[in-house]
Amino acid sequence: MLLKKGAESELYLINWHGVNAISKVRIAKAYRNSSIDIPLRKRRTIHEANILSQVKFFGINTPFIYFLDIKNFEIIMEYIEGKTVKDFFSPDLCINLGEIVGTLHCNNIIHGDITTSNFIISSNGAIFAIDFGLSFFSERYEDKAADIRLFKEILASFHVDDFDISFRNFYNGYKKICGSITSKVFKTVSEIEKRGRYSRSEF
Ligand SMILES: Nc1ncnc2c1ncn2[C@@H]1O[C@H](COP(=O)(O)OP(=O)(O)O)[C@@H](O)[C@H]1O
Ligand SMILES: [Mg+2]
Repeated sequence: MLLKKGAESELYLINWHGVNAISKVRIAKAYRNSSIDIPLRKRRTIHEANILSQVKFFGINTPFIYFLDIKNFEIIMEYIEGKTVKDFFSPDLCINLGEIVGTLHCNNIIHGDITTSNFIISSNGAIFAIDFGLSFFSERYEDKAADIRLFKEILASFHVDDFDISFRNFYNGYKKICGSITSKVFKTVSEIEKRGRYSRSEF
């Protein structure tokens, strides 16, 4: 059963040897030449599966990988029964998101797409991180700040009524994990935002 058709991938709910599973298949992009498109989709598929497994070492909940079918650009993974944080939003959850993102950043992993759709609350209340296709390794404050800036924009567009408390909770969750680097990273977020405003005002 098709669950979701995104810009880059299709997600199916399937039966995998008797259990529910998710099949995530990266689809061809007509505008990309196939000599670029095929290796790119292969790379992102392998990369996503790797990172989903690697971050488990830091204590982050992610779906288990059942199978990787590189020829078909497909990851078969554990189905997490629950709702996305986007659909089941509360400012309190932002404390947990701050802890998860802080854990990733302290281990120098930048998620690359921190949106509330990329976290699932499972039926027993645990929060799972997904969608690591754009993630990368970096120690730079700028990269960590860019991750947080996207999350801030998501809060401002989809959860605006709870923006202040949610962002403060996120900060506190992050600080619990990252301690003293927190203020430097968040200061960089403000700097990037200022830069964005100045460069826009030039046009
Ligand atoms: N392992 C999973 N278990 C349950 N639902 C999932 C799982 N992986 C993805 N989903 C659902 O599919 C949506 C899209 O998956 P995602 O990996 O974020 O793909 P995309 O790159 O298209 O955003 C998620 O927001 C979530 O609702
Ligand atoms: Mg996603």
